[in-house]
Amino acid sequence: MPILSVATTKPAATTADSLIVTITPGRGKKVTVHGEGLTPAQTSKIADALQSVGASGKSGEITSIPAPTGIKATTVIGVGLGDRSKDAGGEQLRRAIGSAVRGSTGKKKLAIVPPDTEPATLRDVAIAARLGAYAFTAFKSDAPASSKPVSSVVVVVPAPAGEAKAIIERAETVGEAVSFTRDLVNTPPNALAPADLAQAAKDSVKGLPVTVKVWDEKALERDGCGGILGVGKGSSRPPRLVRMTYAPRGASAHIALVGKGITFDTGGISIKPAANMDEMKADMSGAAAVIGAMRAIASLGLPIKVTGWVPTAENMPSGTAQRPGDVLTTYSGKTVEVLNTDAEGRLVLADALGMAVEENPDLIVDVATLTGAQRIALGSRTAGVMANNDDARSQVIDAADAAGEAMWPMPLPEDLRPSLDSATADIANIGDRLGGMLSAGVFLQEFVPADQPWVHIDIAGPAYNEKAPYGYTPKGGTGSAVRTFVELAENFTRD
Ligand code: BES
Ligand code: MN
Ligand code: ZN
Repeated sequence: MPILSVATTKPAATTADSLIVTITPGRGKKVTVHGEGLTPAQTSKIADALQSVGASGKSGEITSIPAPTGIKATTVIGVGLGDRSKDAGGEQLRRAIGSAVRGSTGKKKLAIVPPDTEPATLRDVAIAARLGAYAFTAFKSDAPASSKPVSSVVVVVPAPAGEAKAIIERAETVGEAVSFTRDLVNTPPNALAPADLAQAAKDSVKGLPVTVKVWDEKALERDGCGGILGVGKGSSRPPRLVRMTYAPRGASAHIALVGKGITFDTGGISIKPAANMDEMKADMSGAAAVIGAMRAIASLGLPIKVTGWVPTAENMPSGTAQRPGDVLTTYSGKTVEVLNTDAEGRLVLADALGMAVEENPDLIVDVATLTGAQRIALGSRTAGVMANNDDARSQVIDAADAAGEAMWPMPLPEDLRPSLDSATADIANIGDRLGGMLSAGVFLQEFVPADQPWVHIDIAGPAYNEKAPYGYTPKGGTGSAVRTFVELAENFTRD
């Protein structure tokens, strides 16, 4: 059942548990209530009631009041937008709407009056509402109704609803795919082995024109995927490689998306410390983002060929695990000396990138929770974007900006390459610790021909929110990069 819908009823006449309106600081102590379809009398009554309980209209403020007479909803929620002239990208609006919807657990139906009817405003309101209506309760045996996210959000617009309807449908599709990705990331690691992730990839595109091929451990052996096999060796649950192909008739461009799918990263023999190791269940966030993006892009029917690659393994220490010092032969034939088994993401990506380049796509983008160094450099909310091609990197950054995801360009300095030299093999899997995000990128670059446009996104921080929820972002899996990929695919079809 879709969560979002459109209504052209008058806001005051719309039935809902809560009517959400946006407010900004007005003159003196007044707040200004925005939104078309409310009469001046209704606006003034709502403003008075909100002010009387201390609402100021500042950004992110949420104020709930019993609905004044004449308003059909049970309560009215005033959402502060602050100074809208400072909200060029719309993130302030998205966060405000997102936290109002996220905070409305236990309610069945919300109605939102957007602050205005500009398409960009409707897009922001719709996606934020859809992303805010999320909670992960699959493993709670008796989740109370009061903890369930809202199941219906009606966006109230003036008639005719034509364009608004298309905007809301896109937000529903993209938001649903982000939820799918979040669920995969949040699923405990005992319930999500590599084979389960491969199955989830198949399930994600059921009924959509996407073909899915899965390599099991024998097929990986046959095809020479030594990186994926090496990482998977320590686990009793064998690795997989998944390829998802969406090739609509008439598509002229082709992009490949490659996502790191480590279902659990203990570090292997180079084992991680115990503190917060549970968060390494999220080490398949890149894979989950690729799967979610394939689901969204195919559902939207975008006129572009997209191939999704998911190399997936569980990185465990055991008597069969790979050792520091082992040398692997990757798909491309390049040999890698494994100096640290905890630098495993780049090993599985090496094989998948090697395969992806054989299809000669116009662009390859990989996405991975690749390095702790990413979080040191950019913090927990901003992804690092590296590339062998400045235009391609800008394309990804522009898509992220438009989608409202924080991503920042980072270099791939040539001077880091010698730090990856191995005495025994063609390359070692660890390089300079300083700039560790960059040396990981420099490693990956070795598996992509120089003339193949390629972008690498490190989402080690943004993929998983270990702190309190904020705006439309829940605790746990965030669905990072899905919206950027959809935007990227759309932009490609416009060029
Ligand atoms: N999955 C981790 C990176 C990571 C760390 C993601 C923290 C999210 C939060 C990755 O496999 C890893 O262990 N990287 C090592 C590389 C090092 C051994 C060169 C790291 O960053 O410490
Ligand atoms: Mn690791
Ligand atoms: Zn990892």
